[in-house]
Amino acid sequence: MWLLTSGPTREHLDSVRFLTNASSGRMGFAIAEAALARDHEVTIVQGPVALSPPPRAHVLPVVSAIEMLESAALVLERGDVEALIGVAAVCDFRPARKLAGKPAKSAVPRQLDLVLNPDVLAELTARRLARVHIGFALQSMRTPEEERVAFSAARSKLARKGLDAIVLNGAAAMESDASHAYWIPARGEDVDLGVADKTVHARRLVACIEELLVRR
Ligand code: CTP
Repeated sequence: MWLLTSGPTREHLDSVRFLTNASSGRMGFAIAEAALARDHEVTIVQGPVALSPPPRAHVLPVVSAIEMLESAALVLERGDVEALIGVAAVCDFRPARKLAGKPAKSAVPRQLDLVLNPDVLAELTARRLARVHIGFALQSMRTPEEERVAFSAARSKLARKGLDAIVLNGAAAMESDASHAYWIPARGEDVDLGVADKTVHARRLVACIEELLVRR
């Protein structure tokens, strides 16, 4: 089975106000769709999005980063996860305290006390319960200098999180459907995935992950 984290997380300040990251969930759903088309079973630990997931995927809805970590850890502990793929745009911080109900704005403190959220993918990867562990790095790559910095940031995320491969995706993916992406494995040659939309990238990534699984 392939396990994906996908979408944003919400970190509530009270029952209605929250911090989040911009994420439509489309990349996660495109990878799920491409993996299902190749007959892999897919479970998605899904943060709140407006879109509907692929019908044949098992979906575990979550709201916060901590819920995402707990839900994915339970799936991993079942022991049949081949590939863990961290696609989620996890909100890096959460309010130190969640206020009860919906306090009037006059009762909400103007200064937010934030604490760092867990790195969901790094914590799950550290348990080594899947056969391969894949991450994403969304970086700006508009100039050759930005591209150099992006590769170096992606490679350090790959090493820091103990991943088997990371997908470096141009930040253009946030504004349009087409982006330039690279597959960067911990061992072996980088693969230029070219400029493509999320559906095409997803199919190429599924092929890269299958190849990684074969070499394990
Ligand atoms: N990720 C995660 N939990 C977090 C932050 C990131 O699981 N709290 C995962 C993402 O799903 C992605 C990868 O880690 O697969 C890289 O995310 P990114 O936000 O680029 O990395 P950060 O480690 O947060 O780096 P930065 O210092 O650039 O914010």
